[in-house]
Amino acid sequence: MDCSEPIAETPAAAYKLLFKAVIAIPTWHYFLAMLLLCMIFLYNLFEFHFLHDLFTGFWGSRVVLTYNSSSDLYRGVVSKCRTLHGRYLATPWLSSPHIQTSFLNFFGRPPRVCYKRQLFHASDGGTFALDWLRHFDVSGVFTHRNQDISKDDTTPIVVMIPGLTSDSASPYMKHLAFNTAKHGWNVVVSNHRGLGGVSVTTDCFYNAGWTGDVREVIKYLHQEYPEAPLFVVGTSIGANVLVKYLGEDGENVPVAGAAAVSSPWDLLIGSRFIRRRLLQRLYDRALTIGLQGYAQLHKPRYSRLANWEGIEKSRSIRDFDTHATCLVGNYETADSYYRHSSSCSFVPRVSVPLLCISALDDPVCTSEAIPFDECRANKNTVLATTQHGGHLAFFEGIAGSSLWWVRAVNEFFEALHSSPFMHHQNCAFIAGTKYRPSFHSNAIFN
Ligand SMILES: *[C@@H]1O[C@H](CO)[C@@H](O)[C@H](O)[C@H]1NC(C)=O
Repeated sequence: MDCSEPIAETPAAAYKLLFKAVIAIPTWHYFLAMLLLCMIFLYNLFEFHFLHDLFTGFWGSRVVLTYNSSSDLYRGVVSKCRTLHGRYLATPWLSSPHIQTSFLNFFGRPPRVCYKRQLFHASDGGTFALDWLRHFDVSGVFTHRNQDISKDDTTPIVVMIPGLTSDSASPYMKHLAFNTAKHGWNVVVSNHRGLGGVSVTTDCFYNAGWTGDVREVIKYLHQEYPEAPLFVVGTSIGANVLVKYLGEDGENVPVAGAAAVSSPWDLLIGSRFIRRRLLQRLYDRALTIGLQGYAQLHKPRYSRLANWEGIEKSRSIRDFDTHATCLVGNYETADSYYRHSSSCSFVPRVSVPLLCISALDDPVCTSEAIPFDECRANKNTVLATTQHGGHLAFFEGIAGSSLWWVRAVNEFFEALHSSPFMHHQNCAFIAGTKYRPSFHSNAIFN
């Protein structure tokens, strides 16, 4: 061959040559390239961070705390929490917020938990279930099994408020209940109306802004067990309800401490976010199916109070809220329901110690809605954000059988309970002084 001759003199010749080269490459090479592209596409679509974790030596990323620089809650309590000052590393085989969140919902690896049910009758005639898990239920000592908690028991009680269409049987609720009871505290899950197998007895259904039931349950528990400090954990929609309640009632809450995990914060931003991208719309769809299932359980009432045809045709949470929640809860539009019910605007008025935990990659409750400024302005709140964790998942360890946020919340409550502020509170209870909010911000924090 004469090497001095140009390979292709005209563009046409060049393309011909290229075509020849293209068909000369074996098909399986193309197949490999396609596979690689697919993997890159899926890796990005599902926001995997395995490679990042690998290259950083599986060291995880630092938990970022946002708080007021003159906060006594930070200085006296949170600064002692090792979990919150450590790093969070997702379970390596669950290194995607979507995989974490799906795994939690479909498997979740919950511990075995056997609750003791108490039916709670609200003042409006509504009925819902309080599911108890006492510390002796998990301690392996069976002698106490049928015993009730005595009126003067000083063991702290942790009240849990589940997320949308979740109840005490949801895997994350079981993780939290079991670990808290193992700590030696008593746990009670306050199920939403119409969930946990209890039928509704009034025309009132729960929604994201409905704080009446939490208020009544906490008041009841405080009256029933006046010596037991009350701690409250809200998750997802439950966190929204909790923070709204704490903000609405300010100093008049008999709560020693609270935690809001994976809260949606701003439902309007959340509802825009969940329709934006393909994957988010899948979550929207999945949650809507859950809501439709809930409506189906209570069909006689829903078909009378709301637009049943609209409920059945709903393809998004917004559709469901338009056809059901707004009509039952007397809101003009879905947007006005979202505006009225969002907890972010209640953060400034929270006056009990509140720990907020959110993952920046939460695929359901977007980080766009996290109230960083409000948490920095209020001395009673500390906000912990992690790079990864998904929605309520935060799986950790190789086995993926424990949740980071459960550990963080329990450590926070433990530190709060053993802090000097808490003794002050207990003394007030023991001395039988007239009812006083447990963490009076003026008296203790200023
Ligand atoms: C911290 O709290 C004080 C008083 O409560 C407030 O004046 C200040 O603006 C807060 N700091 C920030 C950064 O918001």
